[in-house]
Order: sequence, then C-alpha cells, then structure tokens
Amino acid sequence: MEEKVEHHEFDVIVIGAGGAGLRAAIEASKSGASVAMICKSMLGKAHTVMAEGGAAAALANKDPRDSWQTHFRDTMKGGKYLGDWRMAQIHAQQAPDRIRELERWGAVFDRTPNGLTSQRNFGGHTYPRLAHIGDATGLELIRTLQQKGIHEGMQVFMEYTVRRIFKTDGKVSGCFAYDRNDGSLHVFKAKTIVLATGGITRCWEVCSGSWEYSGEGHALAYWVGAEMGDMEFVQFHPTGMIWPPSVKGILVTEGVRGEGGVLKNNKGERFMFNYVPEMYADEFADTIGEAEAWVKEVVGGKLATKRRPPELLTRDVVAKAINSEKASGRSSEHGGAYLDISWRDSEEVKKKLPGMYHQFKELAAVDITKQPMEVGPTAHYVMGGVKVDPYSQETTVRGLFAAGEVATGLHGANRLGGNSLSDLIVFGKIAGEHAAKYSKEQDEFSEISQSEIDAVIEETLEPLDRKDGENPAKVVSDLREMMQNKAGIIRTGELLEGALKDLEELRERSSLTSPGGGRMYNPGWHQALEIGAMIDVSKMCAIAALRREESRGAHTRDDFPETDHNHWGKINSVILMGEDGSMNIDFVSYPKIPKELRSLLDSGDLQEEE
Ligand code: FUM
Repeated sequence: MEEKVEHHEFDVIVIGAGGAGLRAAIEASKSGASVAMICKSMLGKAHTVMAEGGAAAALANKDPRDSWQTHFRDTMKGGKYLGDWRMAQIHAQQAPDRIRELERWGAVFDRTPNGLTSQRNFGGHTYPRLAHIGDATGLELIRTLQQKGIHEGMQVFMEYTVRRIFKTDGKVSGCFAYDRNDGSLHVFKAKTIVLATGGITRCWEVCSGSWEYSGEGHALAYWVGAEMGDMEFVQFHPTGMIWPPSVKGILVTEGVRGEGGVLKNNKGERFMFNYVPEMYADEFADTIGEAEAWVKEVVGGKLATKRRPPELLTRDVVAKAINSEKASGRSSEHGGAYLDISWRDSEEVKKKLPGMYHQFKELAAVDITKQPMEVGPTAHYVMGGVKVDPYSQETTVRGLFAAGEVATGLHGANRLGGNSLSDLIVFGKIAGEHAAKYSKEQDEFSEISQSEIDAVIEETLEPLDRKDGENPAKVVSDLREMMQNKAGIIRTGELLEGALKDLEELRERSSLTSPGGGRMYNPGWHQALEIGAMIDVSKMCAIAALRREESRGAHTRDDFPETDHNHWGKINSVILMGEDGSMNIDFVSYPKIPKELRSLLDSGDLQEEE
C-alpha cells in the first residue's frame, strides 16, 4: 500500500528550536523568506536552557578594561588554540550587539546598581563578562527569541523528527520528517536548510542534556555529505549533580563558582590550587587563597582584578581535577567533589542562584545556603560538528547552513562557559541572513528524487515490522554506558579501539530491535530510529579521538598525556563519508592567523610555534 505523505514548501527550513535556530529563523523571516521551523520537541524545550549562568559578551559593564580583543584572546586560549580565529573574532566583536538586541526584544537581564546589564565571572574569562538572568539565562533567551520568532511569522512544526536531508544536483532540496505523535509522514521542499539541532551528549551515560540530544543533526549533515570537524572534543562540565542517582548529570551552573562557590575534597581542601596549568600560571600566581576575600572584592562593587579563584579555571581543567581527586581517593561521599557556597549570605545565594537553590532543595534535599552540594563531571557540549564557512555559516554542502552547537569552529578543543549562548545568537543571525539570501538566488524549488523519498519511508517504518527483537532502549543504554567508559574524560588507544569494536556490535544489535506497537505515540519506535544517528556520531568521536595522539582541552589521552603544539596543535580533524559509505578521517588547518590578531594572544603560550 502506498503511504500517505504530506507535502510542504518553504524558502528556508530551520531544523532545531534552540537559540541558534530561533535566531536564524527570525533573521530569515525578517528578509521576507517563508520560514518553517521543525523541532523534535516542544517549542522552547531546548538544551539552550542548560546554559544557565549567562551569555559572554565584552560589554565592559563590570570592568571597563574588557574589550572584544580580550574576549577573542580568552576564547582562543580556552580552546587551546585549535579554534577558527575568524569565528572567534566575529563572535567577540558581535556578541555585545546581540545582547543589546535581546534587551530591546524584551529579555530581562539582571542589572548593576547603576542600571547596566550585570555581568558575572566565569571560567576562563579575564573579566566579569557573562550577561545573565539569575541562573536561568538560557531560558530567558529562548523565551525572548521564541516570542520574536512567532511575531516574525515563522511556521512551527513541533514534535517532528527529521530523518533525511535531500540534495538535488549537489544542492539541498528539502528534507523528510515524521510526526512523533501520530506517525504521519512529511516531505518538505526547501531552497535552503539551516541546521541548528544542538549536540550529541546523550551518547554518554552521565550528561546534562535531555532526551532530544541524540546527535541526529550531526548525523543528518554527515549522511548528506557534509564535512564534520573536531568530533573528538566533547566537553565534560565539571559540575553536574551526582546524588541521588536519579538526578545524576543534571547541570549545576558554573554561576555557582562565578558567585564564589568553592570546590573541596573529602579532606576539606580547596584542591583547585593544585591544578593550575602552566598556561594560566601567571594569572593565578597571586590568587587570593581565601574565597571570601575574593568575592568581597567583586561583589562589593569594586573593580574585578585578574585574581580569579582557581575554581574558575577552564572546564577541561576543573573536570579533570575532580576526576584526579577521585582517583586519589579524595572524592566526596558519592564520588565527586563538594561545591560550597554556604559561607555567603543566604539571601544573596537565593537571589543570585534561585534555580540552584530549588533544584537542590527539591531533588536532593540539600539546602545550599547551609550545606555543600555534591558535584561531578557531566557530558555537556560537543565542540566538534559540521564545518562551516565563518562568514556565512554555509556547510560544505551547497544550500545547507549550520549554527550553534551542531556547527564547529569557534570553540576549538574546549569551550568557555557562556560562549555558547553568545555563539547561538551571533552565528544564528549570520546563518539566517545568508540562508535567506541564498534562497532568493534560487529561482524555484528543486524536485526531490522519488526513489530517495521511498527509501527513507521504508527505512523509517521498517522497525515496526520487526518481531521478537531486543528493546531499543536496552541498546541505547548499553551504547551510553560504553561511551562513558571508553570515550569519556580519560581515554586511551586501547579503550577507543574497544569502543569502535563495540559500536559495530551495537549497530548489528540495533538493526534487530523491535519496538512493538504502532505509529501513534510510540517512543520505542523513535528510539529504534535514533540509534543509527547515535552510533554514527559516537563513531566519529571515537575515530577522531583515537587518531589524536596528544592531550588537548577536553581530549585527554592517558597514553599521550602531553600537548603537542608543533604537530597536533596545528591541525583539526575532518570526517567525511566515502563513496562506499565508509567513515573517512583526514586533517586540515585553518588559514594562518594574521599578525595583528596573533599579537593579541598570549605570546608565552605560542612560543613552541614560533
Ligand atoms: O554552567 C552553566 O551555566 C553553563 C553555561 C554554558 O554552558 O555556557
């Protein structure tokens, strides 16, 4: 029987409804293009809300010494010099305007006593730079953009999963999706597509992302022939909840440390003083050992100094430090570290961190104004993704654009906290603008090959016919456990080879799962379909991690502990699907950084490269 398919046509289709997707949709709609937003979940439910502590922008409200140049420097340094300097420059220069624009659109940022947008300290940022709304910045950003997007006229397809992007004559021509509620099938013709699907961290057992984060956007781009970059770099945020087990991984904002929270081991020691890496040694040489003195300095309204506490070192450093304390037998009761902000005035804590106060009270029966929190690393963000042109966000596939976490380039080997929200609004806007411009240059919609449509429909419905197979949820859970153990914070060649072998076995098992049930409201079916993407993105990560024989930022190889500036520091991994469907890896470099920008970087860090 021929399947019933609904057909749609839009100039620009945005896949994903987080900050980048919404910002792209607003920009494309403003230019007069017809815009559809397709999202897997409800509009407004996106990982963007997990960027709680703020959006980084050199507004210089808390410290007049801040500038785009310092933000550029911090971003390149935090990314261990592997990022695309062109994106880092655009991002640092444009972020302040995007924040001011959000304010004009109604975002209610916290204020300084003299009425400016307030900014807080965060890891790796030289000055207080994160514009914030308590500890719910991502949520307010989404609320503002959502409202603006609807007003600009985008049409929203909620709870649709996109299964394939189509190309005709080498250019994007549309996509296929199904409605997760009723299982109806949809073909969208499009002149251009913006991918803004976020990340892949559901492939790890302990993660801050919710169920949507299964990497389908990354897989869609790869399957349609886009180049993927730096997939070995997955960020473990140092502070996720670890207790009770049912909440393991839920984010504890870096804003806690930004507001003076200190990390301690089971001996009561502030261990981060022992983990200051060489590249940050100068900055922390005169660090005040007492957190209380430091916070008085900042919160008391005086100018911030460079004396940030070591708890605000970059995330890669803090996550590994917590890991090392655990390995040395100094972990907290349930295997992490204690994060303590209870020494601060309790009303201040509740005012600055209302979400954290309620989160711990309700989920862990801990009053953070009186007791320390227990925290540990949680997979939070992937720096790798679809390779894009820095000026337009177009991928290597004509007509396919990407922005936000699904794209790569800005963050190098490690992202600074707060640089995600600003990334979304800076590059979301650029992607929307260029996608709309591109769509206007296309005279008409391209035809989509019927045989390709038929093939993806067959593939989508096929799991429903399988009988007596494993539950797909079991395969997904085994995959997540395996990635946690073999491609987690600390990796070795042996573990990664094991991961690649396991992934092939999981692929085999996934092809035999039987979800049962029909097309209506069937989460088992959705999972049976998602596994393919999860396996492919996990494989990209494992292959690239196996090949990168050094430790840099979020990628730590126990068998290659050194950072090798002269070889690996100059090249980025690229993954591309071969003609025969094989996953191929290569290495490329970004163009050489111009002298005037290079002079902004810390010359000491670059010595080996001279
Ligand atoms: O810790 C946080 O609030 C997360 C922020 C981010 O990932 O940018």
